[in-house]
Amino acid sequence: MTDISRRKALITGGALGALGALVAAAPAQAKALVGWNWSPTRSIAGSGAGVDPAWVWDKQADPLLASLLDSGAVPKINELLWNWERNDQPLPAGLPASLRDFMNTARQLPAWADRDKLELAAEFNKARGIYLNLCNGLGGGMLATAIPKEARSVYHSAGGADMEDRVAKTSLFGFAVGSLNAYRPDGTCVVECVKTRLVHAAVRHLLPQSPDWQDGARENIPISQEDMLVTWHTLPTYAMRKMREWDVPITDDEAEAHLHVWQVTGYLLGINEEYIPATWEAAYDQSDQILARNMGPTEEGVKLTDILLGQLAEQTSPGSVSRPLVNSMARYLIGDQYADWNGIKREPLWDRVIPRAWPTLVKFREGVITAPFVPEAAWVIDEAVRQYILFYLTKGQETKIVIPTMNRPK
Ligand code: HEM
Repeated sequence: MTDISRRKALITGGALGALGALVAAAPAQAKALVGWNWSPTRSIAGSGAGVDPAWVWDKQADPLLASLLDSGAVPKINELLWNWERNDQPLPAGLPASLRDFMNTARQLPAWADRDKLELAAEFNKARGIYLNLCNGLGGGMLATAIPKEARSVYHSAGGADMEDRVAKTSLFGFAVGSLNAYRPDGTCVVECVKTRLVHAAVRHLLPQSPDWQDGARENIPISQEDMLVTWHTLPTYAMRKMREWDVPITDDEAEAHLHVWQVTGYLLGINEEYIPATWEAAYDQSDQILARNMGPTEEGVKLTDILLGQLAEQTSPGSVSRPLVNSMARYLIGDQYADWNGIKREPLWDRVIPRAWPTLVKFREGVITAPFVPEAAWVIDEAVRQYILFYLTKGQETKIVIPTMNRPK
């Protein structure tokens, strides 16, 4: 089987079909399938086939989006979905029946969703917003650019050409998850998740048609279930580890609720239940198994990092959030190895100040110490972080998530 026809077989065959096609076509590659030993008994489903998620995509959404893109229906669908905004809002009339049926199923919360936990998670998000926004936005963003598959997908997809808009769309999503009404009827999280699931399915169809993406890709189809899990761990798992490292007080119920909101979010994004960790312990183990092996340097990651940090320094408050401070905060959040892979410049002054000043600021915020014990430089960081969060929260108000119809233009 030639490379192109194998790619085609993978794309048209759906997840398990794709697995079969690959194994039949190239027995040597079947060896690569052994790399997953996280048991589905540790998942929210409690059981499962245990198939390596690197070879599973989105069985329902992928063929649907492929056919909608091929038939030219997506621009009209985007128009119709533009004002579909609230969790309780009926879908607009005029959508193709196949899409309407899919979305009406995809928007249902799973049977295991727990309203009380979602409410507590929303309160926790409010109380710990500063840490969560910093970790999920700047930290998660900088981890994402150090994930070669993600950096290359983002760079070579349509949105890669306009990172300002991309950041705004991602902020919209982050804002939806962190809102008090995230999963209430008047919230927007279900909508943003389902739209994002459609976007990812479209990307799985579009990117394999990009020669630039193909050039460097080791995978035939982007955004596998493993890739989804990797990114998922750069969000709640990474943030929880950071908050623990900073000694942020978190009750067991809060930790469980925060995990829960991300379990539900992962499910609505199309992650199979058999891969969604049931407990923090299971999440940490899964993260340790898959995160490091999916990280590395890429040209695309370096370019995206530079654009993102440049924008942040420029668009927050010039003078207050200078590029050296942004560089240093990013390095502090993700550590030297990933920062070096991302090509983040070392900053002699701030690289020494932030690792000492930030934990002190956290202590002050949590009432462990009083203001006189906080060094002067820490207030500059405090102000910068506040500016950043304001920027992050307002960015998302400028845009909406839409299904791409093309890759990055030349
Ligand atoms: C689009 C979130 C995983 C690649 C989006 C969007 C959101 C999002 C909110 C819509 C914004 C936009 O269209 O620009 C997430 C979350 C993930 C995840 C929460 C996991 C928990 C991934 C992974 C990859 C990826 C693993 C690649 C390996 C992309 C690409 C787009 C996209 C290429 C489309 C950009 C475009 O329209 O050009 N994602 N994502 N995402 N995501 Fe993800």
